[in-house]
Amino acid sequence: MTEKIYEGKAKILYTTDDPDVLLTHFKDDATAFNAQKRGTILEKGKMNCQITSALFQWLESKGIPTHLIKQSAPDQMLVRRVTIIPIEVVVRNIAAGSLCRQTGLPEGQKLPFPLVEYYFKNDDLGDPLLTRNRLLVMELATPEQLEKLQTLALSINQNLQDFFSRCQITLVDFKLEFGINNQGEILLADEISPDTCRLWDQNQNDPQSRVMDKDRFRRDLGNVETAYQEVQQRVLDELASQ
Ligand code: TMP
Ligand code: ASP
Repeated sequence: MTEKIYEGKAKILYTTDDPDVLLTHFKDDATAFNAQKRGTILEKGKMNCQITSALFQWLESKGIPTHLIKQSAPDQMLVRRVTIIPIEVVVRNIAAGSLCRQTGLPEGQKLPFPLVEYYFKNDDLGDPLLTRNRLLVMELATPEQLEKLQTLALSINQNLQDFFSRCQITLVDFKLEFGINNQGEILLADEISPDTCRLWDQNQNDPQSRVMDKDRFRRDLGNVETAYQEVQQRVLDELASQ
């Protein structure tokens, strides 16, 4: 018997016969700006599921623990059950998006070091940026867990930057979510896809043409599906060449 236990903006979670295993269904629905903008990206569920499964499997091979068990259908992943830590961990290599809006740094400026930021995963509050102390006061994580999140986020960044650069793609920034399993271990969860990353095509110089991620939808740049397909193709080609 499967039962829907959670529906988010991009994914639905179901139980399975095994209490430790959940099924994630990736939807074609697209939202932005805390769901003020809504739409559909054709075949997005399948593309993001495939990209996430491929990247999680590859990250596992680099020593990053993830909740992925296996991709069970084009738009479905079997995952280990975890309790999601309500923190969105954002890593930035290049200034873009809210960092530019909030600091005035010009879009495209390379940052002197990877910037790790924490946002409260709470739609009602609009996912606000947290400070380390706010996060600790709110008891969203212990100091030890926070240390672990930072180490994992930086290691994932290093690995993904190398991977995407072999795909001729610049990893500008991305968002991660982590979960805790019943042994208390922290696992990478959720997804890594063009919905949750900024990816710029190294073969394009024009600031609009180079965008290969959800900014095409957020900013009405057009050709959203083609961009996601291209990311999927390059990721799969790179893995096949290894
Ligand atoms: P931001 O510049 O809008 O703060 O976004 C930083 C990164 O996080 C970017 O790669 C997009 C991703 N992101 C999500 O995955 N979900 C979100 O809700 C937001 C706001 C950003
Ligand atoms: N995923 C978020 C939303 O739907 C924000 C975004 O990705 O821009 O609102």
